[in-house]
Amino acid sequence: MKRYPPAIRAFPHMIHGADYNPEQWLKWKDEIWQEDIRLAKQAGMNSLSVGIFAWSMLEPEEGEFHFEWLDEVMDLLAENGMKAVLATPTAARPNWLAEKYPEVLRMNDQRVRNLFGGRHNHCMSSPAYREKARIINTKLAERYKDHPALGMWHVSNEVSGDCHCPLCQQNFRLWLKEKYGSLDAINEKWWTTFWSHRYTKWEQIESPTRNWMGERDVHGLRLDWLRFTTDQHISFYRAETAPLKEITPDVPCTANLMADCEELDYYAYAKELDIVSWDNYPCWRGDEKGDVPIAIHAAFCHDLMYGLKRKPWFLMESSPSCTNWQPVAKLHRPGNLLRQSMQAVAHGSDSVQYFQFRKSRGSSEKFHGAVVSHEGTEKTRVYKDVCSVGETLKTLDDVVGTVKDGKAALIFDYHNNWALQDMRGALQERTAYRTEIEKHYAVLWKKHVPVEIIDQTCDLSTYKVVFAPMSYMLRGDFAKRVEAYVEQGGTFVTTYLTGYVDDTDLCFRHGFPGPLRKTLGIWAEELDSLYPEDENSIEWNGQSYRAHSLCELVHPETAKMLGQYGSDFYAGMAALTENVLGKGKAYYIAARTDEDFLSDFYQTVLDESGVSGVLKDQPFNGVSAQRRTDGEREYVFLMNFADTEKQITVDGESITLSPREVKLHTR
Ligand code: GLA
Ligand code: ZN
Repeated sequence: MKRYPPAIRAFPHMIHGADYNPEQWLKWKDEIWQEDIRLAKQAGMNSLSVGIFAWSMLEPEEGEFHFEWLDEVMDLLAENGMKAVLATPTAARPNWLAEKYPEVLRMNDQRVRNLFGGRHNHCMSSPAYREKARIINTKLAERYKDHPALGMWHVSNEVSGDCHCPLCQQNFRLWLKEKYGSLDAINEKWWTTFWSHRYTKWEQIESPTRNWMGERDVHGLRLDWLRFTTDQHISFYRAETAPLKEITPDVPCTANLMADCEELDYYAYAKELDIVSWDNYPCWRGDEKGDVPIAIHAAFCHDLMYGLKRKPWFLMESSPSCTNWQPVAKLHRPGNLLRQSMQAVAHGSDSVQYFQFRKSRGSSEKFHGAVVSHEGTEKTRVYKDVCSVGETLKTLDDVVGTVKDGKAALIFDYHNNWALQDMRGALQERTAYRTEIEKHYAVLWKKHVPVEIIDQTCDLSTYKVVFAPMSYMLRGDFAKRVEAYVEQGGTFVTTYLTGYVDDTDLCFRHGFPGPLRKTLGIWAEELDSLYPEDENSIEWNGQSYRAHSLCELVHPETAKMLGQYGSDFYAGMAALTENVLGKGKAYYIAARTDEDFLSDFYQTVLDESGVSGVLKDQPFNGVSAQRRTDGEREYVFLMNFADTEKQITVDGESITLSPREVKLHTR
């Protein structure tokens, strides 16, 4: 049986809940709190996330604590058989804290300190902030450790960003000392002789700036700053959770992530979490043409969240109606909320939670979608939509804890992404790597292949095929592990721009793809960037496919040429190669192509490596199929991303899906 225990102990259900801010309604509590719980229960909700931004109501002045209101909310939840996803309040701070300890306010890369305001903007080094967080978190844990409603800890909220204050500069230098030992090592690894940037004292090292005002062209510096910032967030998370772990060791801790955030290494951060959670806000368009790309992006994000720990995860937030910060705040079309929610479950979520339960009356989120609107009753269309999600989740107890068990992996590596963002000479589009990875993902998604998204540090041995496009930076022992993986029978597929630089962004000497040269059996001599109007082609398997943007000039060494360029001075040179190594194979696609080529080529790779989609012989027609399994039974979620009726064949049975419908097929 492949199944994880439910995240909330002894609560083997899909979690259905929302961010809830009863503290905003303290003055009207008699009228509103009971009613909120009644409405939540009636909608099939079994959990509410409380306390997320409640610090100023919990500790209105330094050392003066007011937990009475939270006691009452926790009791109400428990009396109604509901759970609290209880937050530490550190994502936003009370005025007094910033006033008394200005060091808690972040400094930007221009060395300007923030004023009080906003949220998610504290300094992670500040001893004062750590101490105040420790005190409030300890009090919360002590007060609620035996409370029957306490289900899970929600640590802070959507952590991100960096701080350039003197305390952080100091910590950065200590971090570097520990990593490199000497300035000589840094000067070598960061290649600082370039433009005369050599360091002769530790104090000369300053965090990078985003513009020309300071240092931004030493790539090793920027990479290490991003790594340091990830470690700062980890260190703050550890400090925050220390009292929680000590006082409530059985209560899992999560932090809600943002799958589109690229500035932290989430694989490293997720190691700290007991369970991954994230906040999903797709901009659905309402028709098939618009919604399929949105569905693919959401699916990618969900699979990324799964891949962080290769475990089921939590949908911590999603909007039950419009999202106020997206460029267009379009309403969910009928059926869309259920489909959006089930898509998360299909990709491994054990929860559907919303932002927010009740709309706030004032400030910037008063028009953000919520379960309960300003009108305040169960009469609304949105409320009824939420009820339908509740009804469906109640039928899915069996799915809780089940896994993806994907036999195909796609590598998305944060460090490689950072290095590619800095690269000059081939691409000027900073998002090219992520876009390209999502393009490869789309091809597999349309084949209904369960894919796990992993990074270069993850174990490869459970996969039959690993796709690793644009592995420009090869970190640590990744190349060695790929070699062993292929030798033992794995299939490895990569593309142009692979094996150029090492961990610190220094180019490999003696030819690209560096330490993967033996595994891939090629030498990549030059890289041609094409203008948008330029085209070449890959001639493969009797067909001609468009190649564009980036074309690498490669020489097969031990590899066999499968496809060749169709034109220009490199016509006839290898554009697609296959190298046999030990029991496995490594493929190289030397140019950027479109989905048509990837779809055809990947089909042969999948067939050869014995990986099949959830549905057989079912070309994509707007319906996506994803499965979860406990190793015996498979739960196949069929999701119609079209606004028209669709027919599909599952295990020989023809199934009709109405517009936006989701169906569960068990086998
Ligand atoms: C984020 C935050 C929430 C809220 C929502 C609105 O996800 O975590 O507090 O601001 O956005 O969409
Ligand atoms: Zn700082």
